[in-house]
Amino acid sequence: MKFNSNIPFNDLPLLPPSIDIETKTILKKAINANKALAGLKGICSIIPNPSILVNSIILQEAKDSSQIENIVTTNDRLYEAFTATSKNYDVYTKEVLRYREALWEGFNRLQKRKLLTTNLYINVYNVIKANSAGIRKTPGTKIATPTGKTLYTPPEGEKTIRDKLQNLEEFIYNDQDDIDPLIKLALIHYQFEAIHPFTDGNGRTGRIINILYLVLKGLLDLPVLYLSKYIIENKGQYYQLLRNVTAKDEWEPWIEYVLDGIETTAMYTKEKIIHIRQLLDDTIEQAKAKLPKRVYSKELIELLFAQPYCKVKQLVDADIAKRQTAAEYLKELEKIGILKSKKVGTTNLYLNIKLYELLSY
Ligand SMILES: Nc1ncnc2c1ncn2[C@@H]1O[C@H](COP(=O)(O)OP(=O)(O)OP(=O)(O)O)[C@@H](O)[C@H]1O
Ligand SMILES: [Mg+2]
Repeated sequence: MKFNSNIPFNDLPLLPPSIDIETKTILKKAINANKALAGLKGICSIIPNPSILVNSIILQEAKDSSQIENIVTTNDRLYEAFTATSKNYDVYTKEVLRYREALWEGFNRLQKRKLLTTNLYINVYNVIKANSAGIRKTPGTKIATPTGKTLYTPPEGEKTIRDKLQNLEEFIYNDQDDIDPLIKLALIHYQFEAIHPFTDGNGRTGRIINILYLVLKGLLDLPVLYLSKYIIENKGQYYQLLRNVTAKDEWEPWIEYVLDGIETTAMYTKEKIIHIRQLLDDTIEQAKAKLPKRVYSKELIELLFAQPYCKVKQLVDADIAKRQTAAEYLKELEKIGILKSKKVGTTNLYLNIKLYELLSY
């Protein structure tokens, strides 16, 4: 059946596509993307306590991925809210923090059981949207322009949706097809978005699945690829290329777009991690030279890199010092210009000035 944007696309073809997608250009781009990704995977080990340090990158990913949906917050508010754990944050900031939580939720589940299934998609979606809904049951979900013109109507009927998700799952697990995993990622992301299993949050859930898929395939150990940066910078193209797959069976430009995105962001994220590491070393040097001996420890400085803001409680929780002493340590760090304090509600937050700058561009 010919595609009609106003009619639920229950005829969405199953994966894999019937046409040959492994063109010379695509294979070449896949090699480059794989190379860049391997570079990123390798560099992660230069970071002490990686799960803490990569928080910063995941927060950036959460911010940009949510911005694709016009959920906008500033870096500052985001970091503040993340550290202060105050209830008084605006809905947008909270939504971005939930995206981060959803990414961790998916990652942790995947560590326990190497399964990327419909149930996991639902778990991730539930955290993003703070609801307990499942697959769409009622009609009416559409993708439309801001002026209300319908661009795409996804399949309807829970059984139809579940069957297509089942096919997607089988495609994810089929290693016999010999298709490069990164090419598969492009196919998987399109298919997930075209199925559009939820009433909202499909874009964000789908972008989290992308990263989880890379972890599932062993192409990354940590969920640190900052792919949404590329998508937000090329958002018009993202929408147009997705649509062209549906309307014109144009897979190649879409796959090339995704492969370019992986290559670009893998290199970008790798550079960022190298810079964070350099800054950590420089900060350790500076602290050693200028802090009173009783204050300095490597653990203390590493803690300041968990995210740009820090507070007394984190030092206490990390067993670095008791409350009173911890407060004094942070003041000493402010005195030598590494931190800058800011009162948020009743909590004193301390900004790692240089780390914040590094994450802001
Ligand atoms: N023509 C299209 N066909 C299939 N999927 C599309 C198309 N255009 C956009 N999409 C996907 O649908 C997503 C939007 O769906 P939805 O509003 O459910 O997700 P969201 O997470 O709330 O929003 P967003 O993705 O904008 O952050 C887009 O991000 C994109 O991934
Ligand atoms: Mg939406």
